[in-house]
Amino acid sequence: TVLYGVIGDPIRHSKSPVMLSRAFRETGVNAVYLAFHVTAERLAAFAEGARAMGMGGFNVTIPHKTAIMAHLDEIDPTAEAAGAVNTVVRREDKLIGYNTDGIGYVRSLKEEAGAELSGRRIVVLGAGGAARGILHALALEKPAHIAVVNRTAARAEALAQALPADVPKAALGPDDLREACADADIVINTTSAGMSPNTDELPLGIDASWMKPGAVASDIVYNPMRTRFLEEAERAGCRTHGGLGMFIYQGAYAFEYWTGQAAPVAAMRETVIRALG
Ligand code: ATR
Repeated sequence: TVLYGVIGDPIRHSKSPVMLSRAFRETGVNAVYLAFHVTAERLAAFAEGARAMGMGGFNVTIPHKTAIMAHLDEIDPTAEAAGAVNTVVRREDKLIGYNTDGIGYVRSLKEEAGAELSGRRIVVLGAGGAARGILHALALEKPAHIAVVNRTAARAEALAQALPADVPKAALGPDDLREACADADIVINTTSAGMSPNTDELPLGIDASWMKPGAVASDIVYNPMRTRFLEEAERAGCRTHGGLGMFIYQGAYAFEYWTGQAAPVAAMRETVIRALG
């Protein structure tokens, strides 16, 4: 039996153990997946323990996604670009860090919302850690244009600058949002606006009627599963995509990196929805 797990502080609320345990059970992989409450002072000790115990790998959640990088042997280029690791794979005595959040989000957007990204105009609301990982994954899909819109202009500027040179891009402030929405094919909220308990908030004061009917409104917030932004976008005739898929598909990629097998995504989703309900 191979040991896997997730580390974070706090960790009690994590749905990763039920989701990944279901994935292992569903595919008949002989493994267990547990939650470990690891504080910042114990990160180095945990990494050493993972090597000593021969763990197959582990997920990393808040607040350790950047700090863990100092304790790994190799960092995959996508994790380097995201500045964060959420999935660690052990190969022999080496711990290798990956980031599956951004690519998980993009796979969810394509598979669950049926969104085409190549040649499309994308608006990303927010310029924090979550936006950084998603932006790099979006850039790989060859969009026509990416606009990063943020309250603090300098952070939008920094993230836009870090995108590959061949992606047309702009860094904008809230005052430019209306115009950016008018010709956007996809608008993605990466801020925490709208998250419980602030369910009345709209990210950067967005008005869904600024968007084209048929455009995709996407929100990485999954508590609540349908944010006010998504509800208003649906009423405005937009297609909507909620944040639960990002969580499920980041886990699906982790499972695939660990086992080399396709993840049982439908079973994982069913388990998470039941655990949340
Ligand atoms: P995360 O890792 O979740 O992205 P973060 O790095 O703290 O968290 O980034 C939070 C992002 O949400 C930032 O873009 C932040 O805007 P600022 O850079 O101007 O701080 C944005 N954000 C958070 N709360 C917001 C709010 N109420 N309205 C608008 N933007 C908000």
